[in-house]
Amino acid sequence: MKDTVFPPSDALASKAHVDADRYAEMYQRSVDDPEGFWRDEAGRIDWKKAPTKIKDVNFQHGSVSIKWFEDGTLNVAENCVDRHLETRGDQTAIIWEPDEPGDEAKHISYRELHENVCRMANVLRDQGVGKGDRVVLYLPMIPEAAYAMLACARIGAIHSVVFAGFSPDALGQRINGCSAKVVITADEAPRGGRKTALKSNTDKALLHCDDRVKCLVVKRTGGQTTWYEDRDVDLTAAMAEADTDCPAAEVNAEDPLFILYTSGSTGQPKGVVHTSGGYLVYAAITHQITFDYHDGEVYWCTADVGWVTGHSYIVYGPLANGATTLMFEGVPTYPDAGRFWQVCEKHKVAQFYTAPTAIRALMGQGEDPVKGSDLSSLRILGTVGEPINPEAWAWYNEVVGDGRCPIVDTYWQTETGGHLLTPLPGAHATKPGAAMKPFFGVQPVVLEAESGKEIEETETSGVLAFKDSWPGQMRTVWGDHERFENTYFQQYKGYYFSGDGCRRDADGDYWITGRVDDVINVSGHRMGTAEVESALVAHEKVAEAAVVGYPHDVKGQGIYCYVTLMNGVEPSDDLKKELQTWVRQEIGPIAKPDLIQWAPGLPKTRSGKIMRRILRKIAEDDYGSLGDTSTLADPQVVDDLIENRQNRG
Ligand code: PRX
Repeated sequence: MKDTVFPPSDALASKAHVDADRYAEMYQRSVDDPEGFWRDEAGRIDWKKAPTKIKDVNFQHGSVSIKWFEDGTLNVAENCVDRHLETRGDQTAIIWEPDEPGDEAKHISYRELHENVCRMANVLRDQGVGKGDRVVLYLPMIPEAAYAMLACARIGAIHSVVFAGFSPDALGQRINGCSAKVVITADEAPRGGRKTALKSNTDKALLHCDDRVKCLVVKRTGGQTTWYEDRDVDLTAAMAEADTDCPAAEVNAEDPLFILYTSGSTGQPKGVVHTSGGYLVYAAITHQITFDYHDGEVYWCTADVGWVTGHSYIVYGPLANGATTLMFEGVPTYPDAGRFWQVCEKHKVAQFYTAPTAIRALMGQGEDPVKGSDLSSLRILGTVGEPINPEAWAWYNEVVGDGRCPIVDTYWQTETGGHLLTPLPGAHATKPGAAMKPFFGVQPVVLEAESGKEIEETETSGVLAFKDSWPGQMRTVWGDHERFENTYFQQYKGYYFSGDGCRRDADGDYWITGRVDDVINVSGHRMGTAEVESALVAHEKVAEAAVVGYPHDVKGQGIYCYVTLMNGVEPSDDLKKELQTWVRQEIGPIAKPDLIQWAPGLPKTRSGKIMRRILRKIAEDDYGSLGDTSTLADPQVVDDLIENRQNRG
């Protein structure tokens, strides 16, 4: 299976935007003549003033600077909405599928989208929000989330979406991190038959923020909320009153479009900054080419708008292309494991894009829930977020795709704005588990981890870096350009370092092997081990904690915590539960520890540095290959940890 390749059918390849020959020709031009290539591709979007300067990039640590289309001006919302009105005003822009299958789906046309975006933009203007101001969105998967993103873009404000699963503390940190003027939230977020009290979480978060931050509240369920007259605004009512037209601000290509906080290997999450022109061109081209999107098709990405995937591939890419994009409020297993497939049948979905963790979870429920739905509308399947194991790939291919839908395994990051490595459905024979080929303009290299030397041999493995920029690349960390340079450009000079390991096979195709830093990937969600550790040590009974990932059947990686308790505190199962709940409250449900091991001591070097390599091996139940432990201050600690490990194979 691992060595099998799956070429696209002739029928699919002949109708695709890009076939094998075209890929080869376009890719070559994109690296030989990036200026010419991207000057042409910039024509995918409408500019108020067309750019004459295409690319100005410096990857040298100490003077990193990335600019694309820098003298062009545009408005992103106009590109995603207004410019489609003449040709497809009545076409559905967004299909919204609510959590409860019995509730009615909404079909929002481009004309209605325009009206709603303008209304919301006018409400924001009334609240004093203008160009460059920050607006935090903390919303369920409802059309208002897309309206809010586009309303910010319309007036040149910068949005920062916070995933609705994050805790009040995490929300408060992000509001403060970007000094937001306004938070947009909803009363409650229904998901999988349960409700999250978003407004009440926002109330708690705002206790720690500037008093002037306004709170705009969408009525989603009509649930009870506490109301603060001088701060809260009923957004649903205000939109109903607002004007249906709102002028679109002219912004520079390099003006920020959004900030999105993401986890790294150290410290608190950082605010990844994406700008307007390059990001939009890149989201649009990758959406069209990777998914081979054709006019009139219904495209569905199951991500949440709280993650970058939702930004680029639910909202900006598809809408820039005038597509019909489906937004789903619920979860794959509610009310039953057939929900995804019922939605595909109901709305005749052509492109379906999800995460390996969802596929693994559904695979565990067997084939019947899939077989109950007619999936003949599907053409292309996609995955994102983590490496996909060959078994899950095979199930996706055979059971969901009936062996006739190419699978695009798209490798990219919050930082990259869009796909970097992926097969193209009409161009490449896919291999189960391989992210395959670079997208146009993307120049991957494999480096020796220690020396940083670029490896020339085709068949090799090492760390994955990129030697030149692409328009969708992040530009800086909000408020901390030094952190941006140090995180991505310091370790391997002259390259953008991804933080991932990879293998390149004899055909030159890329396989991602996972993070090589202290970032773990839990159900496709990125988590910094340092964040979980700092949440744990904030608990009064915890003296010290070290967190690592371990292989998990469904989540890909689980969260394994070694915890040293304060002197005199008795370990107990109840305390484990208490700590799990604590971390959940501090960060959010996605950070809840899976396994906690009491560790009377942690393996440290004589200089006091925790040896995570050893902890990782124990958590992986691979303690036979611990490597050199001679530099440990107290080697006995390791035997004790092995003796009491939680993850016995
Ligand atoms: O480790 C890689 C993994 O997810 C990381 C990026 O996470 P995030 O910024 O949250 O963005 C996820 C959605 C774009 C990467 O550093 N990753 C992402 N896609 C893949 C992947 N690992 C293997 N295969 C993929 N297709």
